[in-house]
Formats: sequence, structure tokens, C-alpha cells
Amino acid sequence: MVSTSTQIAGFAFDNCLMNAAGVACMTKEELAEVKDSAAGTFVTKTATLDFRQGNPEPRYQDVPLGSINSMGLPNNGLDYYLDYLLELQESEPNRTFFLSLVGMSPEETHTILKKVQASDFKGITELNLSCPNVPGKPQIAYDFETTEKILSEVFAYFKKPLGIKLPPYFDIVHFDQAAAIFNKYPLEFVNCVNSIGNGLYIEDESVVIRPKNGFGGIGGQYIKPTALANVHAFYQRLKPEIQIIGTGGVLTGRDAFEHILCGASMVQVGTTLHKEGVAAFERITAELKVIMEEKGYESLEDFRGKLKYIEE
Ligand code: SIN
Repeated sequence: MVSTSTQIAGFAFDNCLMNAAGVACMTKEELAEVKDSAAGTFVTKTATLDFRQGNPEPRYQDVPLGSINSMGLPNNGLDYYLDYLLELQESEPNRTFFLSLVGMSPEETHTILKKVQASDFKGITELNLSCPNVPGKPQIAYDFETTEKILSEVFAYFKKPLGIKLPPYFDIVHFDQAAAIFNKYPLEFVNCVNSIGNGLYIEDESVVIRPKNGFGGIGGQYIKPTALANVHAFYQRLKPEIQIIGTGGVLTGRDAFEHILCGASMVQVGTTLHKEGVAAFERITAELKVIMEEKGYESLEDFRGKLKYIEE
């Protein structure tokens, strides 16, 4: 019997596929659709303290090899998502869900995390250190000093399971430096990667999204090699207690297989979910199971992180 079940932070999930924060997760209705699909769990849209309208539309465009977005963190505010998660804790006590969040300033991040800490929320929190789309706000995890300060302050009071969503890194020294920081903290996971920030997609003579004169985060097929490199680089460098969630360029079961081979314990689907809807989870799971069967693998543990290198 082939199983795609997995664990994150000690919680069991019957499937390793879930949505990526930003897709199909703005409203309770969208979250319920993911919850009731073949996905193992869901993550909410990244919540800020209060409701945010986000950037002007058009701000998300599917394109042939992926997507470009500059959403600007539109969301219904922390309480909306937290209330829903607390409801689900009562109605579906055997399942665990992810809450994504970040403040518009370090102070707001602490306010939000303290509210979550004080709440009855028993699930997993993902701190988004990588949104590329809020004008004037850099991607936090590209600034190692600020990242370390936030993590050291957060872990002084936050005692629930916490992971971080990372932007892609492109330099071996940056992998080393980032991993050295993350290894100092009791993180449950890192999620690699958010979109590749600030790309441009052009049709005829024009950009395709309005904010920032068309600059936006790139997802989909364009980014799989970068996503796999980040998953594997952190798998090689992080202490084993920090698990990896792989996100980026997952269209097929083969893509999910490659993320797991690089070290991912959970795989998130963004652009493909936006293009195909929640039926994508069933299709990608079935494709992944066929590959596992062909190779004689019964569980993700049989091949997780076992990427082969070419000998000298
Ligand atoms: C956005 O809301 O701009 C996308 C979220 C993200 O990239 O973190």
C-alpha cells in the first residue's frame, strides 16, 4: 500500500499536499474547499492584524509557464482566520491546520503572535518573512540582521509550533548564513519558497498587472529549479528537527516527487491550484503514487532527501 501521509511538527497529515498561502485561502469558503479536497491540510492567506484591501487590480495573472502576482497582502485580518481555525478545532479535532501571518512592522508581528500565543489555537503557525509585494516593505528574510532579531524576540514568548516562509536565495553563502541563523531557534519548519520577487511579464508592449508598474512575484514552472535548490540547500544545512516544506513549480506528481527527494516533508501547490482548482490535489496525489509504486516506495520516508549526486 503506497501512502503519501506525512508529519509536520509532530502532527499527522494523511496527504503531503496542501495549498500555498495566497491561493484558495482568502475566505472561509475557499479554505473549506481545500479542507474537503484531497489536500492533507490548508494554510490561510497571510493574516495581518487588521483587514487589508491589498494592491489595486489587476494584481494576479496566470501566464503560460506560471503566474505573476502583486497582491500586497489583501486579507480579512487575524481574527477572521483565527476564529475559523478555533471553530475547526471543535468540529474536526483530529485535523491540524496552518495559520499564516505577518505584521506590517516588527511591532505588529509581535502583537499578532502574542494574540495567537494567548489564544486556544493548537495548530501550526507560519510566519511569512518573504512577501515581495508591499510597496516600501522589503522581503524580511533577505535582511539577516532583522530576521535574527525578530526570531530571537519571537521565541522569547511564542511557545506554539512555528515555521517561517522564506524567499528564494540564490547564493551558496546566503544558504550558509541563513541556515546558521535558523539553526539557533526552535523552528518546526522552513517553507521554501515564496515567489521569485519582482519579475516582469510582458504581453505585446505592456505589463500584465497594475501594481508597481507590473513588477510581481513569479510562480509556477519558471521557479521549480530555484525552489528545489532552496529545499535541498536547507535540507543539507538545517538541524534535523527543522523540517522543510517545499513550494514552487508543482504541476505534476513528478514535481512533488522531486521536492520530497530534495528533502521536503510537505509540498504546497500555488499557481497550479489557481489554474486548476482543488481537483489538482487528487490528480497530483495519484501521479505521485504511480511514481512511488513504480519505484517500490511505500512511504515518503523511503525517498525523502535521498537525491543522488554524480560521483567525482
Ligand atoms: C501577496 O499578498 O502579495 C502575496 C503573498 C506573498 O507573496 O507572501
